[in-house]
Amino acid sequence: MKITKDTRVLVLTGAGISAESGLKTFRDAGGLWENHRVEDVATPEAFRKAPAMVWKFYKERWQQALQTKPNPGHLALAKLEDWLQDNFYLITQNVDGLHTAAGNKRVIEMHGSLNTCLCTRCSHHFPIKDINLEEDIPLCPKCKGMLRPDIVWFGEIPYHLDKIDALLHNCDVFMMIGTSGVVYPAAGFVMTASYFGAHTIAVNLNPMENGDFIDEFHQGKAGEILPQLIDGWINSAEK
Ligand code: APR
Repeated sequence: MKITKDTRVLVLTGAGISAESGLKTFRDAGGLWENHRVEDVATPEAFRKAPAMVWKFYKERWQQALQTKPNPGHLALAKLEDWLQDNFYLITQNVDGLHTAAGNKRVIEMHGSLNTCLCTRCSHHFPIKDINLEEDIPLCPKCKGMLRPDIVWFGEIPYHLDKIDALLHNCDVFMMIGTSGVVYPAAGFVMTASYFGAHTIAVNLNPMENGDFIDEFHQGKAGEILPQLIDGWINSAEK
């Protein structure tokens, strides 16, 4: 399919796009994530049982994300947005902030962000950099309620689903990058986009669980494939 400046491209990314920036994916290490079972740190139940432990884990993830930089895969997507402008949108399951750091503006962080936290009592959001992380369980500067990481945990409803649904119904190309395709609802987006007529493209190191609805599969590292693919689109459209 020929992609031009008028093509509406919707991208979904997962942990695989940040792997080349040095961040571990969730399911490539035998079910362990930074030596924790995902269920022990990424569920509301875990937070209720052991909030200080969950906070410690996410403080470390935030510190780690601060040390990382966007890789050529992120930068290629920033270039694509620069070219397509309003015809581009990016949904990410990642919480590391690397798409924004790369220069993408039309970004939906459907699983939240390491850069913010929120109050369990008054629901206010705060930049994590403004919070006293010396406290085992940081408290809300407004109401002294218990703060929590602004992460959508297993069992919680992802953010911005209405907007995502509208984008899925109205894209010409749906691209899925570095995601194993096992965590819903994100894993179902490709099916919706395909039903509504989009051409679907996947870029991933390994074949994905939800491969049935993929029209075009590029197997390999996102940081190697995306720059070539996207430069190819731009060059052939502008010839
Ligand atoms: N380039 C492209 N793909 C890669 C690369 C790479 N350099 N490295 C790894 N991958 C692929 C893996 O083969 C795997 O299919 O990226 C995928 C990462 O899958 P997961 O670890 O399952 O991550 P993701 O799909 O983002 O997980 C979804 O699950 O734990 C929750 O909320 C968390 O957002 C996360 C969600």
